[in-house]
Amino acid sequence: MAFQKYTAKDYSKLRGLQGITDEQVEVHLTLYNGYVNRTNALQERLFSMAGAGTFDNAYQELKRRNGWEWNGMRLHEFYFDNLTPSAKPLAQDNAFAQAVAGTYGSLDGWKNDFMNTAKMPGVGWIIAYQDPVNGQILNCWINQHEVSHLSGARPILVLDVWEHAFSVYRKPTERAKYLDDFMANVDWNVVAKRLG
Ligand SMILES: [Fe+2]
Repeated sequence: MAFQKYTAKDYSKLRGLQGITDEQVEVHLTLYNGYVNRTNALQERLFSMAGAGTFDNAYQELKRRNGWEWNGMRLHEFYFDNLTPSAKPLAQDNAFAQAVAGTYGSLDGWKNDFMNTAKMPGVGWIIAYQDPVNGQILNCWINQHEVSHLSGARPILVLDVWEHAFSVYRKPTERAKYLDDFMANVDWNVVAKRLG
């Protein structure tokens, strides 16, 4: 068995978003590429150490770091994949809109919970997860990249709330405006296709 290296995805078409500037996207993609490179480097080192029979403290600490780097890579891919420069408003008959209305009572009820979760202090991710057991949608706060994920649940809508996601074009105090920018650029067709 050999480790398969990851390749950074091409997001060159992700330009011309509403509100979020191209420079912001460029900087964010550079950060994303760093996660891909570090995930590969970390995994290669772990496989090398395991091959050499080295399971010391250094190996253990690298194992602990794995979820941070790997999720930092993959969550950015979910985030960029659910954005588009040709976004249209979320329609009531969209499968995601119907799913969240089923869980939160209404589309507005879901959005109110999602946005207020996104305004929580701290850095991390907001993920509308779908529980495959009963199909319901749960808005979750993810601390940094790896804490509070729901095991086995499907990430349906993924929002980056690290300050680097908006610090190029917005002040640290303007997180709420960035959240509105994000919602204006969501590709709801991509989101709906992630549903189980
Ligand atoms: Fe990010």
